[in-house]
Amino acid sequence: MQMRDVTDLLISRMPRENVELLRSLGELADRRGSSAFVVGGVVRDVFLNIPNEDLDVVVEEPAEEFAQAAADELGGAVKAHTRFGTAILVLPAGQKVDLATARSEAYERPGALPTVAPGGIRDDLRRRDFTINSMAVRINRRGFGTLLDLYSGSDDLRNGRLRVLTDKSFEDDPTRILRGVRFAARFGFEFDEKSERLLREAVREESLGTVSGERLMNEIVLILRDRRPWPPVSRLADLGVLTAIDGVWSVPWNLGRTFGQIDGLLSVEPRPGVVNSSDAWMVYFLAMLEPLPPVARARILDRLRAGKRLRGLEQHLETLETRSLRTLAAERELRRSEIYHAAAPIDPLALVLGMATRAGTRAAERIALYLGRLACVRISVTGDYLSGLGVPEGPAVGGILAAILDARLDGAARDEDEERALAERLAKNLDARNKS
Ligand code: CTP
Repeated sequence: MQMRDVTDLLISRMPRENVELLRSLGELADRRGSSAFVVGGVVRDVFLNIPNEDLDVVVEEPAEEFAQAAADELGGAVKAHTRFGTAILVLPAGQKVDLATARSEAYERPGALPTVAPGGIRDDLRRRDFTINSMAVRINRRGFGTLLDLYSGSDDLRNGRLRVLTDKSFEDDPTRILRGVRFAARFGFEFDEKSERLLREAVREESLGTVSGERLMNEIVLILRDRRPWPPVSRLADLGVLTAIDGVWSVPWNLGRTFGQIDGLLSVEPRPGVVNSSDAWMVYFLAMLEPLPPVARARILDRLRAGKRLRGLEQHLETLETRSLRTLAAERELRRSEIYHAAAPIDPLALVLGMATRAGTRAAERIALYLGRLACVRISVTGDYLSGLGVPEGPAVGGILAAILDARLDGAARDEDEERALAERLAKNLDARNKS
């Protein structure tokens, strides 16, 4: 076990206000006669010198009560989850602290959530996934900055090694298989020999079958949200994790290239059209489903309890493949309005994937034109304006607005005045037709 003073590391690598907040929480723990520690990922990232704004604090007393006392003293609000012995403290300046009661865990059934009992910091470190995530730093005034490293996590960090704490770690909580793959890829680490053997055994013994779809999906999302998701995804495939989730789920040889294309498309600013950065992971997820037949896609989405958005996207992917691309890949010249109408019904995330898989083709260029320019084209003429010209409410309004949009896209109406002139012409034609 290592106990050394890492105060200097904390001070030099954590935001100053976070260190100060930790000191205040530690002093509060002193007054309450308990012990408090900063733990887990944030300690790991201090050692790795990776920015991490999280503050995970474990206290050796009920976390809700500690959080309430902290809020009374420092201001802010508490969100408590009493059942789990955790509380979130949100301070007036916006800092957020995740507080947890030190606890021991017992897994009654592999894959299920564990039963927890209050314990000391050592119990709390013992229940954790990897040695690199099992370090704590004391924050009480006496002993502030003392590292508690019961499993030589700091040595493993130095050697780039991922090591589980117990032989049953993956079996107890198979989501750790995906977590491990994510950390390995994120930090460029290797599993130690024994941990990799245990991981492979857990996959072979189908332990992932015991995990709920929601928990599996959460882990997949975290992987796809990391900076470069291809290395962990290909690792998941190599380790048989994807086929363990669904027998036909594998990755084709060219998926790495598609991921690379998506990386490129999503890293340009502004991002293509309307793609929101918090949704970007979905493009990668769709890319993992795209090579599969629709029944398998649907089965995987069911297994992972995918939400409405992903299911909708999968449908859009199908429409893109079966319908829109027939137009978008056409050899003949297309008017911009034709490109617009082929692409507009498809969710931009599915379009980004369409571009990535067809990089360098005419279809990809047209999708790029749509996402980059055409999707943002708006007309200034409104339904009210048309009513003012005497166009009766009903389908005629939509028809005229659509014709004006097409004219704008195709350059037949170049500005507001030309839009209005066209609106007047179309309204007059309509009137003449109605009279005849
Ligand atoms: N933990 C665990 N087993 C899990 C999930 C979490 O042992 N299945 C422990 C680890 O000690 C981890 C801590 O809980 O460090 C916090 O979990 P989380 O916030 O999910 O992970 P971080 O390690 O903080 O990683 P990230 O940087 O991705 O947030």
